[in-house]
Amino acid sequence: MLISGKHVVVTGGANGIGRALCLRFHAEGARAVTVADVEIDRALEVAAEVKGLAIEVDCAVGRSVESMIEQAEKQNGPIDLFCANAGIFTPGGEELDFADWEQTLNINVIAHVHAARVLVPRMLARGGGYWLSTASAAGLLSQIGSAPYAVSKHAAVAFAEWLSITYGDRGLKVSCLCPQGVRTRMLLGDDGERESFLRGGSISVEEVAEAVVRSLDAEQFLILPHPEVLEYFRRKATDYDRWIRGMRRLQASTEPAERK
Ligand SMILES: NC(=O)c1ccc[n+]([C@@H]2O[C@H](COP(=O)([O-])OP(=O)(O)OC[C@H]3O[C@@H](n4cnc5c(N)ncnc54)[C@H](O)[C@@H]3O)[C@@H](O)[C@H]2O)c1
Repeated sequence: MLISGKHVVVTGGANGIGRALCLRFHAEGARAVTVADVEIDRALEVAAEVKGLAIEVDCAVGRSVESMIEQAEKQNGPIDLFCANAGIFTPGGEELDFADWEQTLNINVIAHVHAARVLVPRMLARGGGYWLSTASAAGLLSQIGSAPYAVSKHAAVAFAEWLSITYGDRGLKVSCLCPQGVRTRMLLGDDGERESFLRGGSISVEEVAEAVVRSLDAEQFLILPHPEVLEYFRRKATDYDRWIRGMRRLQASTEPAERK
């Protein structure tokens, strides 16, 4: 699908990967870009850059997601491409408060269900539409240091697969974006200084947007801006136990010396 002439909605569009998608979609000639984010001031700035519409939304809340879609379609007409991109990273494991587990799962995957509930029937009635989920390489592999992130991103991949399997023959096109490290505040912190083992192989948000536009054009399900992720995914499928041993070594190499 070409972006030219389309109405595109990007959740989490105010910063990072979402902002880069908004800018790139505008450059590709989108008819309208809707920037949906909980940070409305930043969303308004991005909307001004792309001559688009900013809508405040809390993706953790179903009613808020529904009303954002209503507003976007009322203002800019039918949504051709919906990018479920908003996400959070919560470090920790089983010991985290359930409030943290819930918030991470709500934003990283249940938000997609809320949006699909409203939008998929409309897209099918119109003969089709395009859905893009931003999951992560963590949704295919795992995430060192965050169980809720690993779990929620696996679920996001699973939901995107399910949408494609269930509705693909009725006109719904689905892609799932699974980057590894991308240089945003999520990876590097607000000051860009946070240490991360993913910093080394990290890429820019513009490189992610380039991969997205190319893959949407090709209508390809899995979008891997880091091609090496495909090899890691193959290794996982080929020999799970060996892959887990390798991940343990990676985990050990990222632990502070006193905990080893
Ligand atoms: N940066 C990476 O290394 C990386 C790698 C793989 C996947 N991802 C995924 O890419 C997506 C974008 O992340 P990013 O790196 O650009 O981070 P970011 O923090 O720069 O952007 C995330 C955006 O989501 C918005 N958001 C957060 N909670 C929200 C909520 N409840 N409702 C609405 N908006 C909300 C934030 O305000 C922000 O604008 C996320 O889903 C993330 O998990 C990031």
